Amino acid sequence: MSLEQLDLKEKIALCSGEDTWHTKSFSTADIPSLCMSDGPHGLRKMSDGSDLTDIDNSLPSTCFPSAALTACSWDEELIEEMGRALGEDAASLGVGLLLGPGANIKRNPLCGRNFEYFSEDPLLSGKMAAALIRGVQSRGVGACLKHFACNNQEYKRFQSDSVLDDRTLRELYLSAFEIAVRESRPAAVMCAYNKINGTHCSDNQRLLTDILRGEWGFDGMVVTDWGALNDRVSAFKAGCDLNMPGGSSYQEKMAMLAIKDGRLDKQFVERSAERIAALSRRVQKAQTERRDFDHDAHHALARRIAVESAVLLKNKDHILPLRKNIDVLLIGPMVKQLRYQGGGSSHINPLQLRQLSEVRADLPYVPGCLPDGSSDKKLLKQAEKAAKKAGVPVILAGLPDSYESEGFDRSDMAMPDGYNELIETVAAVNPHTVVVLMAGSPVELPWADKVKSILYMGLPGEAGAEAIADLLFGEVSPSGKLAETWPVSYLDCVSSSYYSGQNKDAHYREGVYVGYRYYQKAGVRVRYPFGYGLSYSEFVYSDLRISGNHVCFSVKNKGKCDASEIVQLYVSPPEGTGYRPALECRAFRKIRLRKGETVSVNFELTNRSFALWQNGWIVPPGTYGVHIGSSSEDLRLHGTIHKEGDPWKEPALPDWYISPSGTPSHIDFEHLLGRPVTVRSQSKGCYTMDSTFDEMKEDSAVAGLIYRVMAKKLLKSTGNDKNSAKYRMALSTVSDAPLRTLQMFLGKESSTMEYLLDWINGHPGKVLEGLIKKSRTE
Ligand code: BGC
Repeated sequence: MSLEQLDLKEKIALCSGEDTWHTKSFSTADIPSLCMSDGPHGLRKMSDGSDLTDIDNSLPSTCFPSAALTACSWDEELIEEMGRALGEDAASLGVGLLLGPGANIKRNPLCGRNFEYFSEDPLLSGKMAAALIRGVQSRGVGACLKHFACNNQEYKRFQSDSVLDDRTLRELYLSAFEIAVRESRPAAVMCAYNKINGTHCSDNQRLLTDILRGEWGFDGMVVTDWGALNDRVSAFKAGCDLNMPGGSSYQEKMAMLAIKDGRLDKQFVERSAERIAALSRRVQKAQTERRDFDHDAHHALARRIAVESAVLLKNKDHILPLRKNIDVLLIGPMVKQLRYQGGGSSHINPLQLRQLSEVRADLPYVPGCLPDGSSDKKLLKQAEKAAKKAGVPVILAGLPDSYESEGFDRSDMAMPDGYNELIETVAAVNPHTVVVLMAGSPVELPWADKVKSILYMGLPGEAGAEAIADLLFGEVSPSGKLAETWPVSYLDCVSSSYYSGQNKDAHYREGVYVGYRYYQKAGVRVRYPFGYGLSYSEFVYSDLRISGNHVCFSVKNKGKCDASEIVQLYVSPPEGTGYRPALECRAFRKIRLRKGETVSVNFELTNRSFALWQNGWIVPPGTYGVHIGSSSEDLRLHGTIHKEGDPWKEPALPDWYISPSGTPSHIDFEHLLGRPVTVRSQSKGCYTMDSTFDEMKEDSAVAGLIYRVMAKKLLKSTGNDKNSAKYRMALSTVSDAPLRTLQMFLGKESSTMEYLLDWINGHPGKVLEGLIKKSRTE
């Protein structure tokens, strides 16, 4: 059905939302309103009339484990099953487009939203995202892959420029999106807030049209992240279809003017309107039928996913699973108040939530520290005393809510002092101490050598407590493997001295050396490597056979219980290759093995498994290593594949990229990019619509006053706690949003923020002039 019934103004209007979560409907043209809702691991459907900041009051829905944990399952079938359940939850609430999954690469462990993302590795991220999308879309609901692209920090997320070289962009940051788009055909892609090499993602034709649609064949709708539109005219030309949230029409007025004076061809608008209409119609059935689903079945699935994804990091003397007759003591405030999800737009109001103190009400419990992770002498003493007498003290610890959220990055990788002190104290009096960790990203573990066992549960969702009990007591063998490296200390991380907070922009100086790609090449010892995870069983690898691109081997479960193993294939470059990671994960599979069973595993590699980006995908000639193993550092079988390859010339680069050690310098980075990179700063009198209150507040009295008033209001509306994730996210959203974004959020006319800007820049006369002019034209 075409859009002939709509005039140009209506077509432009269709390309911006009606309100925060819906598009406009046009019954004359049979275009229903599209209902959108967050998020990646559950539905955050807001009730009608609620505003953007009212994060916690969404309609109840299943809270699945977040991506930081589900990725540790490395299990495409399981994640597809989760996607099907999410699709059913969405349809039951009348949601036509689910705003997830997020396929951003974990560039640094401190990114505030890492818990919402899958991995530091593009293959694993892409495969997990594709599986989730396939599942959601099988239920007639659309999925929206986000945040496209290079949105790898929360600091200054609305305006920071992600500066990186083409090779890094293609090999790491775009590959995950490419896999998901090619393998699952998402209904929508959400463009990110940031710029890439100077151009906002919303205005980025190379990204949204040339690469996404032209190269990868994407045929769905591109929607802005909420408030990410920079300039409607450039965005139409770039292939950005829908501007969200709705409520302000000033950008649309500009588009109309641009068509009138010939700066914008109306075909761009027509194409965008058609894509939006097509999606609204496609999901209409799911949106209106409101089929109910089996809540208990989804809760059981959330539990199974948490069990299948949890990672056993340490298990000395096989202390886990806990024998039936042992006196177990539960310790830590999380026994009664589990940390099970992160903060921000992915926050779910769970349908069912049980605490470990309810699941195992038969076991004694002491808190040991305060719920926010701070120390309390009396509670610590009580825990020490009880732990001395216990058979096995099990401590639930990790990061409290206020540490991980959308809107800000963590300031370090440490757990709160109260937890570290509690673990040290208990471990000192009881050698059988077990720690269960709840955190959406790696933390430093200074006490790792002093405890017997560590079980990582990520942010395990609403059934997390039951999953913990299954793994500790139920003899279900843990089978997850880390989807990101855990460094010993944050300082070991290559970007630690220049990531987030140091600079308005994000300079990707480390190039392709992210996560294990860096640690392995630089020979830096890590706490737990990528792909690592223990089992209650043991596996033997044998019989590697390679023929062409076909790789085959056997795995045997030689332990005492049925269990699963995640087998991984890594490729190493030909000897002498300079700028290239030592190993890259090119295939993986989770296999289930009964006790004593042997299975044969087959992988088919492709040319892309050996390729690097140099103005296109090319395979440098030579002999590549093929390594099969149980983690990136536990490689058991080795073979080679020879490639005639493509002619290529290795680029001349600074030494750091050939043998990385320590930190790459700004000058190294400029060589990698092949151009100078300026460090942006702004000074009084030069602010623009791209400026934020955070940067203007110090040298403009007006901006300072507005900032303080806003902060006070937000503090009150979020519960008067300056440390809460809710307040910090709300404040960063308002104070870090450029004036143009605030204008959209507030639904204001264009002139409002422009007048304010003149005033802040020290030209109050211009404000007066503008107001007089305005009153004359009205
Ligand atoms: C987030 C998106 C989210 C959107 C709508 C944005 O601030 O970055 O992930 O989908 O809000 O809530």
